[in-house]
Amino acid sequence: MSFKQNTKNNFPQWPIYDNNEINALSDVIKSGNWWCGFPGGHHGENLWKFQKEFAKLQEAKYCIAVCNGTVAIESALMALEIGLGDEVIVSDYTFVASASAVIATNAVPIFCDIDPETLVMDVNKIESLITERTKAIIPVHLGGNPVELDKLKEIAIDNDLYIIEDCAHAHGSRYKGKRVGNWGDAGAFSFQASKVITSGEGGAIICNSNDLADIIYSYIDCGRKKNAYSYAHYSYGSNYRLGELHAALLRKQLEKFPEQHNLRNKNAQYFGNKLNEIDGIQVMKLTPGTEECGYYVYPIVFNPNKFAGITKKEFYSKLNKKKIPTDDCYPPLHRLDCFKNIVLRKGIDYSNANWGGEKSNDNCFPVVSDIYSRSVEFPHELLLASKNKLDSIVEYIKSLK
Ligand SMILES: Cc1ncc(COP(=O)(O)O)c(C=O)c1O
Repeated sequence: MSFKQNTKNNFPQWPIYDNNEINALSDVIKSGNWWCGFPGGHHGENLWKFQKEFAKLQEAKYCIAVCNGTVAIESALMALEIGLGDEVIVSDYTFVASASAVIATNAVPIFCDIDPETLVMDVNKIESLITERTKAIIPVHLGGNPVELDKLKEIAIDNDLYIIEDCAHAHGSRYKGKRVGNWGDAGAFSFQASKVITSGEGGAIICNSNDLADIIYSYIDCGRKKNAYSYAHYSYGSNYRLGELHAALLRKQLEKFPEQHNLRNKNAQYFGNKLNEIDGIQVMKLTPGTEECGYYVYPIVFNPNKFAGITKKEFYSKLNKKKIPTDDCYPPLHRLDCFKNIVLRKGIDYSNANWGGEKSNDNCFPVVSDIYSRSVEFPHELLLASKNKLDSIVEYIKSLK
């Protein structure tokens, strides 16, 4: 193993770093080039190199780095001119950012229930959510597991909708021969502290259209244009640039990624086979056609009846007491106070949304509500553990029956 494991209680800890990261940061500091500059005038070199390197990893033509994954989604939506009066279909089982980015554009997210086995957006439920206002779909590849992107693309083409893939969990995921993020119009990534490639905070958008890349660049850099005078601002934009120090760190994390990614994929298969043998445990099933998975998290669904009726909180607390890193999964979006009580943007009409008040009842989102009540997740770094360690988790779970 060429990357050095950082372990506590014999389980790998995240982040994993060594002198390469420390020296890269020190080099930027000593260079005095602490700012990347702008598309028309580069200062530091790390941001511009990182964008090329990340685009190469994800097999996309363009990459625009930004300061986090939330604004990555927002920037893609803004560049595609999604806004007031528009609806965007989003998976209900995700981190709040997949939908709050839609709110930021003044559009309305519409929540889609999930498939009970793959735990990602059920594409068969999308068409019933499409209205004359629908402009885009945000598939979220939860735990790196790709949404059924070929079917989703057909639906998008038939209904003239954009696709912005939320790839915050899916660095390196590949579905039917193509990396995620390239199936639709844009793919949005996060490099926040817990992500599989990280600089503490950070994000990126990938796309394959030169025109769209230019619009995104403008939006994230104050309305500037590539190769133009820096005090010329041609359109509305904000400053969502990523810092040069973050980019230097990311370039070193990127070097470690392929080996870690391969190990996660190998171990997930090993661990998953063993866990699935336990009556009452179901691991997230990879969507058929998945060739590689980013595995930001590894969710499992347990059947309380096979574990003497314990709640999921009791289930993951027991694992945590044994120092096995395990956590709750995301509460479904329809349950979050901001959506349930509609504490959102002033002046926007959310009355057509499929959430809020009574519409946020769990029985309107039956699959995700059931799955959420029974699912827990392991962090990706657990999949870097030795087989013996993974075996010990399987044995401990068996002992809870
Ligand atoms: C599915 C998903 N989308 C978007 C984001 C937002 O990324 P960030 O925290 O970098 O803003 C996250 C962050 O965890 C996420 O899990």
